[in-house]
Amino acid sequence: MKPTPCARPDPRACRRRSLRAAWCLLPLSLLALAPLAAWSADQQRLRTRALAAGCAQCHGTDGRAVEGLALVRLAGRPKDDTLTQLLAFRSGQRPATVMHQITRGYSPEQLDAVATYFAAQK
Ligand code: HEC
Repeated sequence: MKPTPCARPDPRACRRRSLRAAWCLLPLSLLALAPLAAWSADQQRLRTRALAAGCAQCHGTDGRAVEGLALVRLAGRPKDDTLTQLLAFRSGQRPATVMHQITRGYSPEQLDAVATYFAAQK
């Protein structure tokens, strides 16, 4: 392809101009990525909900345990509190009948996400 003729006396000025044009396009290309970031956040939310759904059978939908049942309500419980218990179950530090098995099916990052999820429920 033939390069576009440069009318300026100094050809470097033309190169500088096209560089400047590239910088102008940068924010535009970042803007184009924004929906992708939103989509990926949605995916993450869905994944976390799916992980938390594994607790619903015993701790109630979204951690809202049925009134009068023995099991602990997770909804609205401070994240650090829930996470500390989960990690203690996982390491075997806190003895349990089932929770030590269940928590071993989750990575520490997944337990963190689940604890954050329940803390945000009312
Ligand atoms: C099969 C039923 C069952 C499922 C499923 C289950 N739990 Fe539990 N959970 C229990 C029982 C029973 C206890 C009491 C400890 C024990 O004996 O294991 C408990 C205790 C806990 C506690 C400690 C509460 C406290 O402070 O005494 C937390 C936190 C907890 N579960 C979170 C979760 C999370 C998060 C999930 C999902 C990843 C989950 N549980 C899934 C039955 C279950």
